Amino acid sequence: MSVECRDVQKIYKIKGRTIEALKGITFSVKGGVTSIVGPNGAGKTTLIKILSTLIIPTKGEAYVNGYSVISDEKKVRESIGLVTVSDRLFYFRLTGLENLIFYGILDGLSISEARERGKDLMEMVGLGDWINVPYMKYSTGMQRKLALARALLTDPPVILLDEPTLGLDPVSSRSFRETIRYLSRNKSILMTSHNMRDVEELSNNIMVISSGKIVTQGSPKELVNSLGTVMELRIKEVPKGYEKYVISSNEREYVVRVPKRIVGQVEGEIIKEEQATLEDFYVHALDTINQPRWEIERGRGGRRWGF
Ligand SMILES: Nc1ncnc2c1ncn2[C@@H]1O[C@H](COP(=O)(O)OP(=O)(O)OP(=O)(O)O)[C@@H](O)[C@H]1O
Ligand SMILES: [Mg+2]
Repeated sequence: MSVECRDVQKIYKIKGRTIEALKGITFSVKGGVTSIVGPNGAGKTTLIKILSTLIIPTKGEAYVNGYSVISDEKKVRESIGLVTVSDRLFYFRLTGLENLIFYGILDGLSISEARERGKDLMEMVGLGDWINVPYMKYSTGMQRKLALARALLTDPPVILLDEPTLGLDPVSSRSFRETIRYLSRNKSILMTSHNMRDVEELSNNIMVISSGKIVTQGSPKELVNSLGTVMELRIKEVPKGYEKYVISSNEREYVVRVPKRIVGQVEGEIIKEEQATLEDFYVHALDTINQPRWEIERGRGGRRWGF
């Protein structure tokens, strides 16, 4: 149930333009939950696509369950369960269970095996009451749950999840986390997410990637402890480079949430001081250049999106 990347690079070429989506990714995991986080366009989906053999790396090697994604495609596919953001996975007129039976048969199960397994999995992901309802009546969250059930049909040792909690309500997110925790006891799970709560609660290992490179890696505790304490202050002016730390503002003042060790340049009334969260770590670790960021404008209705 291992996943390994050795200097994986990916260059996309479109209309004479080249985009270096991955610039040499090296890591190795065995068991547990590894989360890949990073800004939009960082290369997370590209990495998941390489590990699931949907695209091939331009350079480097990747192995899933010991099989090369380049030379052992079929074995890799048999070793993984994949959930992507795609909404075109299922037949609209078939019920959830019929869809799973269809995929189960494609994956090599008999009809009765696929039916049994499909039912069990639908119960497990919380779709027990929706087994015989046509897929077209499923909400976004239910579609995500069915996609997870589909990925588990053959009980693969490695699960790859691209933004699995997108569109899940808080109660569903909680049951999703429980499911993932349960699965991680005997599988390797690699997931991308922008939801720091899910990442913080689930992961043994977090890889922060930005512009196609691993910026830092560690357990949630290690990452958060490395930042230490954060302070919230009320200030009149935002020093250059501190824009990303602004958490609220009005016409007269800003509130910034800044790691204590770099608070030096910021002068203002201290509102609170507490242990950093993973979100604090994320904001601090990534340079603002790669992320959409709030552009702060005074006297013109506050903030607007700037890219
Ligand atoms: N098929 C493609 N052709 C050309 N460029 C692509 C293609 N897919 C992705 N890219 C580019 O590769 C880079 C990485 O994209 P990717 O989808 O891997 O990012 P991501 O980290 O998943 O972002 P997000 O958080 O928005 O999902 C981006 O610059 C993107 O524009
Ligand atoms: Mg993506």
